[in-house]
Amino acid sequence: MVEDNMTQEQLKIVTWPAPVLETRAEEITVFDDGLRAFGEAMHATMRTAHGIGLAANQVGVLKRILVIEIPWDGKRYGKNGERRAWHDQRYTIVNPEIVEQEGVITFNEGCLSFPELFGEVERARRVLVKAQDVDGKAQVIEGDNLFAVCLQHEIDHLNGIVFINHMTKLRADAIRQKLGAP
Ligand code: NI
Repeated sequence: MVEDNMTQEQLKIVTWPAPVLETRAEEITVFDDGLRAFGEAMHATMRTAHGIGLAANQVGVLKRILVIEIPWDGKRYGKNGERRAWHDQRYTIVNPEIVEQEGVITFNEGCLSFPELFGEVERARRVLVKAQDVDGKAQVIEGDNLFAVCLQHEIDHLNGIVFINHMTKLRADAIRQKLGAP
């Protein structure tokens, strides 16, 4: 999808280790043009980086907003499953809260703040999320499989949790050492 009228403003993605990635983001209370423009810039940045999800912490902003867009390209995110309603949807999610979760899924996750790093993480297979949109309107989002993984990964970011926190201590320690973190 190409949105010609959308901003192409690019934000700088913060890579781990960085305190902003391990700090809880704050609730958004002002829904204005600035917030809408920020959401658009997050989408543009995510797309340029070939990511499928991005949380505000990852661009150095401690506000509870995340974006997700999972392309159905028949290769990367489609080969083992059917096309779902959430494929190719552009989600901008403000103040999300997981209100229901069920099942288990293990997925080999990546993160734009950990370039080139992948690792298996176990999460709920289905989640129900209460949130707002950039205009402050309430929205309820149901996600399963990869979309559920993505929602949980990005909401974790807003809570200052990075995906290596879900890996075994051995694996996480190896990654910390490799990336020169304390
Ligand atoms: Ni991430």
